[in-house]
Amino acid sequence: MAAFLHLSLLLFFMSCGSFVFISADGTTTVRPTVVSEAVFSATESLFSAGTTNASEVSTAEFTTGYRKSTATTTTTTTAHPTEGAARREVTRKKAGREEGPVEFECPPLGLESLKVKDNQLRASSYKRRGLGPHRGRLNIQSGIEDGDIYDGAWCAQVKDKKQWLEVDARHLTRFTGVILQGRSSIWSWDMVHTYKVQFSNDTLVWKPCMNGTTEAVFEGNQDTETPVLALFNTSTVARYIRINPQTWYQNGTEGDICLRAEVLGCKLPDPNNIYAWQTEPAASRDKLNFRHHNYTEMRKLMKSVNDACPDITRIYSIGTSYRGLKLYVMEISDNPGKHELGEPEFRYVAGMHGNEVLGRELLLNLMEYMCREYKRGDPRVIRLVKETRIHLLPSMNPDGYEMAFKKGSELAGWALGRYSYEGIDMNHNFADLNSVMWTAIELETDRSKLINHYFPIPEQYTSEDAFVASETRAVISWMQNIPFVLGANLHGGEVVVTYPYDMTRDWAPREHTPTADESFFRWLATAYASTNQVMSNPDRRPCHNKDFRRYNNIINGADWHNVPGSMNDFSYLHTNCFEVTVELSCDKFPHASELPIEWENNRESLLVYMEQVHRGIKGVVRDKDTQAGIADAIIKVEDIDHHIRSVADGDYWRLLNPGEYRLTVSAEGYLSSSRTCQVMYDHYPTICDFYLTKVPKHRLKDILAKGGKLPKDLQLRLRQLRIRKLRVTTKAINQRRAAAAAKRAKRV
Ligand SMILES: *[C@@H]1O[C@H](CO)[C@@H](O)[C@H](O)[C@H]1NC(C)=O
Ligand SMILES: *[C@@H]1O[C@H](CO)[C@@H](O)[C@H](O)[C@H]1NC(C)=O
Ligand SMILES: *[C@@H]1O[C@H](CO)[C@@H](O)[C@H](O)[C@H]1NC(C)=O
Ligand SMILES: *[C@@H]1O[C@H](CO)[C@@H](O)[C@H](O)[C@H]1NC(C)=O
Ligand SMILES: *[C@@H]1O[C@H](CO)[C@@H](O)[C@H](O)[C@H]1NC(C)=O
Ligand SMILES: *[C@@H]1O[C@H](CO)[C@@H](O)[C@H](O)[C@H]1NC(C)=O
Ligand SMILES: [Zn+2]
Repeated sequence: MAAFLHLSLLLFFMSCGSFVFISADGTTTVRPTVVSEAVFSATESLFSAGTTNASEVSTAEFTTGYRKSTATTTTTTTAHPTEGAARREVTRKKAGREEGPVEFECPPLGLESLKVKDNQLRASSYKRRGLGPHRGRLNIQSGIEDGDIYDGAWCAQVKDKKQWLEVDARHLTRFTGVILQGRSSIWSWDMVHTYKVQFSNDTLVWKPCMNGTTEAVFEGNQDTETPVLALFNTSTVARYIRINPQTWYQNGTEGDICLRAEVLGCKLPDPNNIYAWQTEPAASRDKLNFRHHNYTEMRKLMKSVNDACPDITRIYSIGTSYRGLKLYVMEISDNPGKHELGEPEFRYVAGMHGNEVLGRELLLNLMEYMCREYKRGDPRVIRLVKETRIHLLPSMNPDGYEMAFKKGSELAGWALGRYSYEGIDMNHNFADLNSVMWTAIELETDRSKLINHYFPIPEQYTSEDAFVASETRAVISWMQNIPFVLGANLHGGEVVVTYPYDMTRDWAPREHTPTADESFFRWLATAYASTNQVMSNPDRRPCHNKDFRRYNNIINGADWHNVPGSMNDFSYLHTNCFEVTVELSCDKFPHASELPIEWENNRESLLVYMEQVHRGIKGVVRDKDTQAGIADAIIKVEDIDHHIRSVADGDYWRLLNPGEYRLTVSAEGYLSSSRTCQVMYDHYPTICDFYLTKVPKHRLKDILAKGGKLPKDLQLRLRQLRIRKLRVTTKAINQRRAAAAAKRAKRV
């Protein structure tokens, strides 16, 4: 992992899962060329976001040292790109505002969230289709290559000061500001340094945006990633707005006029349109707490749900983040706090990447909704609550979230807050059991010795100095304490459901890598995707650089991009739990105003997906004589090379598509037993119980007499041993950290 810290590496972020390292020339200096000094010097203004004296672009988001961009090599004239925004924030704080993001007077129109459609964007010219005006959206991501139809900005074809990107707001709008970003690309370095803004009601007559009596010239970008905010001195009412670049980064003949933007504005009632109310998108009829909840507020909301529904909810914590924030879980069940025989356990995990915040809010919405609907007598919710033990972890990476939250939904950029405080990407941080499995398959000639489930964690992963985040350790411990059957982890930055494996077998950048349960995973992914109102809309445009509509909005994770150490793969190979990843929205951090519609988009999917935990076969494995449940019995399904195990009381769940299956159950000290079970198309599982007979005494004697040993489940023993070791080292780390914190506190 040391290589990760190397400063000469430029890190390129894919939407969610993986990243690509590009070695950058360490000696390169980026010297922004100002085209017109005159314009530049005339822009000492309220809006200027880049005229302060700073020699490094070492903004907060670069603190971990992982995300040094080439911008760090910038010299002399470059300025702190976010200083302006930061200064404004400070000013606001002084004006009595609490800690938290800058709250805009008006929301974003939705260039980033795609609320603004492609046909609302026009430009004076564009280099080619992949750099058309429809690509000029804040945080849009290019593919790995430049030059395809999914490139990372709008770029003008002509290089002069007459170029513009136009947004048709479709309504009279009071425009209050613009947020600008450079081009997303590994290969090109393009951005706009300064720009003007014009307004119009008819696209014929344009009024310049003024600063007093002179035309305003706004400060744009000094690096390609950091979004820079410019608030207008006085807001203007109009329907159209143009962003009109004046100076841009140039290096000889290199350097195009490229930008990604968001526009802030409040929609006004249109006196000429008496049907205006009809065009309003319906907000949610569920009156839930639709806003972004920081840590304190999240805790408060969870508490209020618990107070409202004490009989069916329980809050518990599975551990703490690096900075000591608790990882809270809301349990929803008719008997909270207890595993009930035969009742499957389900989990949703959100916010593993702290800046992908929609999942967190959806889970908070979901707990509020389920509590309310349960009390209202909604039969569907009552059934879920009675027959399932549901666990909701809204924030797996609270440290990362707080970082992104402080910048706010529009200015956090693409990567700030994704990682743990220590800079760990948690979705690459679980033990890589895929390699263990595939290596064994390659080396082992005796196929009967291969295992296909419950893989033990590798020894080195359990040590104290293993690079494993405290959040990851907490989740692994949770996975082992609770017999989860099904789960999903909620991400953002794309719109698609991905299913394991997430890792390719030969480190190919992408390759379809199915599990033994491919068909059921496809069903699971489809259950979410086909009921989601954004995914199932055939007219939606792709978010960034891949059109997942071609895949019916579901894809094998490894077929998208290789992610070693993912939570899905770990869950499948180490436990009984099947898990998929849901990418919820193009925009990782949607503005609060979009939350009601996002709940509407996802409510049905969230419920339908939970209901899938009741598919397939379930039952109890018991001792035929004593009727006692048998733990750790192995449940094999003929033709599916992945077993699952019974849990403490002998109960088990085998998720399966409809069909006829031959099951064989075996356990240490018992004779195996087989039977055929039929899975129907219903929403409830087929019950298949097993009664196992102890290996007869005389046979035991025979075996022992011949000097033989009883077959031990070595794999299980090793698994338990490593689990214990991981717990011990986690405890030691936590104690050391707590002691250090106490010492610091004492000194202060
Ligand atoms: C500027 O252009 C020169 C010549 O093409 C090139 O060697 C240098 O790397 C460029 N600098 C940057 C920062 O791109
Ligand atoms: C407007 O621009 C002038 C320079 O032309 C600048 O001095 C002034 O500060 C700006 N006004 C505001 C309110 O920032
Ligand atoms: C910029 O910062 C440097 C180092 O902190 C300082 O020496 C210099 O005087 C500053 N320049 C201006 C214009 O403030
Ligand atoms: C969370 O938000 C509340 C209300 O906006 C604010 O008072 C509090 O300071 C915030 N806490 C943090 C840690 O940002
Ligand atoms: C806008 O700029 C003018 C002229 O520079 C200044 O007098 C005025 O106070 C500014 N208004 C705001 C709201 O900043
Ligand atoms: C657009 O029309 C509105 C309402 O008629 C008016 O208030 C506004 O000033 C106009 N804007 C421009 C830029 O002409
Ligand atoms: Zn993610």
